Amino acid sequence: MRTFGYTSHPSRVVFGSGTVGRIREEAERLGCSRLLLLSGPAVARTAARLREVLGDLLVAEFDGAAMHTPVEVTERALDVLTRARADGIVAVGGGSTTGLAKALAVRTDLPQIILPTTYAGSEVTPVLGETQDGRKVTRSSQAILPETVVYDVDLTLGLPLPLTVTSGINALAHAVEALYSAEANPVTDRQALDAISRIAGALPRLAADPADREARADLLQAAWLSGTCLATVGMGLHHKLCHTLGGSFGLPHAETHTVVLPHAMAYNAPAVPEVMRRVADALGVPDAPSGVHDLIASLGGPTSLRDLGMPESGLARATELATSTPYPNPRALTGEGIGELLAGAWHGHRPEGPPSTEAKLARLTDEVVASFARTPDPRVRTLLSGLVRHLHTFVAENDVTDAEWQYAVDFLTRTGQKCDPTRQEFVLLSDTLGISSAVDLLTNSRTPDTTPSAVLGPFYVEGPPEAVHGSDISGGLHGTPLWVDVLVTDTDGELLKDAVVDVWQSNEDGFYDVQLPDLDGPVLRARLRTDSDGRITFWSILPSEYPVPGDGPVGQMLDATGRHPYRAPHLHFMLDAPGHRRLVTQLFVSGGAYLDSDTVFGVKNELVVDFTSRSGPTPDGRKVDGEWRRLDYTFRLAPQAG
Ligand code: BEZ
Ligand code: FE
Repeated sequence: MRTFGYTSHPSRVVFGSGTVGRIREEAERLGCSRLLLLSGPAVARTAARLREVLGDLLVAEFDGAAMHTPVEVTERALDVLTRARADGIVAVGGGSTTGLAKALAVRTDLPQIILPTTYAGSEVTPVLGETQDGRKVTRSSQAILPETVVYDVDLTLGLPLPLTVTSGINALAHAVEALYSAEANPVTDRQALDAISRIAGALPRLAADPADREARADLLQAAWLSGTCLATVGMGLHHKLCHTLGGSFGLPHAETHTVVLPHAMAYNAPAVPEVMRRVADALGVPDAPSGVHDLIASLGGPTSLRDLGMPESGLARATELATSTPYPNPRALTGEGIGELLAGAWHGHRPEGPPSTEAKLARLTDEVVASFARTPDPRVRTLLSGLVRHLHTFVAENDVTDAEWQYAVDFLTRTGQKCDPTRQEFVLLSDTLGISSAVDLLTNSRTPDTTPSAVLGPFYVEGPPEAVHGSDISGGLHGTPLWVDVLVTDTDGELLKDAVVDVWQSNEDGFYDVQLPDLDGPVLRARLRTDSDGRITFWSILPSEYPVPGDGPVGQMLDATGRHPYRAPHLHFMLDAPGHRRLVTQLFVSGGAYLDSDTVFGVKNELVVDFTSRSGPTPDGRKVDGEWRRLDYTFRLAPQAG
């Protein structure tokens, strides 16, 4: 259970486009009739518009606000306010103008209406930081909190990009530190995360088009949310460092925030890994501190204290000041740690957060691949390196669990155990996963004028029985008689004699002889040699469709994926002719079942041929009652390479 406290700081917020036109109404709502307008040269046009809108409610103006709210400036403005007998303050501008309005309010208790033109967020906080005699003093009170904030997106459209970036990162800092604040609570958590993703989304869009109104609206809304976090919960190391650097070295406020934030985050990251993970998710990056650094760098924002004009010699004093008084921060402050942090920020180094899982995995993969560096055979090295990279990517992309990998290992073990001299489950696995056909496609499709190849399959047996031309290889098994008459030629159509042709097929029930232990010797497989006409002829039976063996791991895989186990009916051939490349292929029975969904993806259109239906006299005079079939085909072999 989470324990938390929560105090809201209510102010009225008006958000939109053209809302500057509602200032008079808002002033009247607060009961004001004599207003002091605080502005500055950068907002001269808006000030003119406000004069128009406020009309006779406006009784005095002051445009000398300065950074860090010096007390002497406040006193001059207070003089103007008192002499005009103002009963309300309207301020338009950035953090300095808002600071002045607050300084006047705390001294007079007058109501304030603030129109922010940057993303500082201080307009919704009850905090005031003033400088007197070079020292910054911060205080907080209800009188400091502005009563009304009017956000007008139009006022921010012309904010120059560099200022937009640093001011936006300033807002980001409020949100990030709110998440690891000791006072963090569910409300500020949501506000902070929403602000972070809006800032990360809006800034790159504004870098592309600074007048993108929707991006401006996102950023302004984020500024309000971040400012609300700042008002509600205490800040940590980052803000302390920025105050120290701003107060003691005169460094500019928003720029300092921009440079320091990634480094302060990296320092705190080990103490709050979960917060950093949420920040990284909101930013859409793998690592939050380096992600913020990269965002700033990509936007052309400042990344080093050196560039902001801080002398390197000041680092030791800054470290001392930042660690001299204790304050709440998720990670304990050490002189050494803060010294390193500031040195990194001074040099503009990219902070390295704890390595992400992705980074660790990439390192592991590289390490394994590097272990193959001394493999003597370069091809072996290439294949093993590629295999490891793909397997690592596979497990990473699919977030493979221990249990799943264990299952895979067990599956492969069982696949191996299922193999014996007549059963090849690994070949079957390769075939049913389409890998054999993929390899076949890559190795054999490069000779378009030759007969296409097809997978070997697991049922080939070395050294089949020799058969003479015209013999019957069916061993008398039942089936439709098939007369096979094939020619073997080269790519020019020259007939090739003495080619060794191995043939094998299943019986009428779809079984190969090796699957039928009761059979006496090989059947439906033979070796023939082409005669001087490049021809072989033999009798067999018409092959039928059959299921691949389903009693092993492959069968389980087919079941688990809802696939059928059938092969389209076919006859296997392996052809070897002197001076020619071996051809391993199959001829499929045109009109047969499963031609469109062969379970090993082995069917090629060119290999689907007519096994023509005949009756009556046969080519060699064999007597056949009823139907018999005839297969005529010419194989074209490629010449041996090289
Ligand atoms: C075959 O045609 O014999 C076959 C091919 C691949 C897998 C199973 C069987
Ligand atoms: Fe087969």
